[in-house]
Amino acid sequence: MMKEEESDILKSIEGKYRSQKQDPDVYLEGLLWSKPITYWDYVEVDTLLSLQRPRTTLEDESVFIMYHQVNELLFKMILHEIRQIAEKDDLSPNFFAERLNRISRYFDVLSSSFEIMQHGMEKEQYLKFRTTLTPASGFQSAQYRMIEICSTDLDNLIDARFKGKLPADSDVATKIDHLYWQAAGKNYTTGERSLTLQLFEERYKQAFIDLANRYKDVNLWAKYRSLPVEVQNDKTLLQAMRHFDHTVNITWVMAHYNAARHYLMTGSETKEATGGSDWRKYMHPKYQRRIFFPGVWTDAELENWGQDQPI
Ligand code: HEM
Repeated sequence: MMKEEESDILKSIEGKYRSQKQDPDVYLEGLLWSKPITYWDYVEVDTLLSLQRPRTTLEDESVFIMYHQVNELLFKMILHEIRQIAEKDDLSPNFFAERLNRISRYFDVLSSSFEIMQHGMEKEQYLKFRTTLTPASGFQSAQYRMIEICSTDLDNLIDARFKGKLPADSDVATKIDHLYWQAAGKNYTTGERSLTLQLFEERYKQAFIDLANRYKDVNLWAKYRSLPVEVQNDKTLLQAMRHFDHTVNITWVMAHYNAARHYLMTGSETKEATGGSDWRKYMHPKYQRRIFFPGVWTDAELENWGQDQPI
């Protein structure tokens, strides 16, 4: 005799397929022929492990490639969480805060694991293989840019020199031309763009414009401001917003900066970055002043952004 919960499951399956005007028996028969799922097929282990193709004979280049791939996977997990917040209609402070905290934890992993970049490769090897990789740069990580675009209004990502100076009706493409990161690849006097920036924009600029248009009213900062004031003041949510902004724009930025300092500075000598930026100034949070959620900080906190971090 069939157990009661088994017949409940069969009834639910039947209900599901009937509501889609499908014959449940065909689907049940399909179960008979399905193969067992294996770990390696499900996680696509073979594909994942076939994606490392060093360009040099130096062993530590593999560490560099795999570490960047781990970063890109975590960026994808972050974008996955942001999308859920963006698409949620009746956004509760708990859901919002929980998703933000997930992202902050991913960034904590990224920040602490920068130790791997800092101490996990021989400096001599790194300085050799980076020449082979020129003009590629982490600067060209499109997912990192997407995280920024989905986190805040483009106006908050504009280079400090142009903030408040662009015409109010500037379109998305014009704003993107003036984002802070353009400074790493553009000579503003001649308008000339580095090859790193040219190649990056050829590949991704249109995708950034489309994404910025899609997230104009649903990026994290816009979503937060769309909530009733009492929800915005919810302590847990406010704390999660501040923690997110600090984790991404100070903690991660400093971990990255310290890795760059380790490899690109010897004594007082500073090497040029593969992307060609004046990287010490460009990467430090006190100059970069990237702040996703300006309204959750006091004037003094905004003023002192990154000032306490060593250069
Ligand atoms: C040895 C380790 C690393 C060094 C020395 C390093 C160095 C640099 C430098 C100097 C820049 C400034 C732009 C340029 O002129 O190229 C930069 C930008 C960037 N790098 Fe790295 N990086 C390292 C690891 C990573 C990793 C693991 C990631 C993760 C994907 C990453 C992502 C980025 C991003 C997103 C930018 C642009 C950041 C921004 O615009 O603020 N980097 N990197």
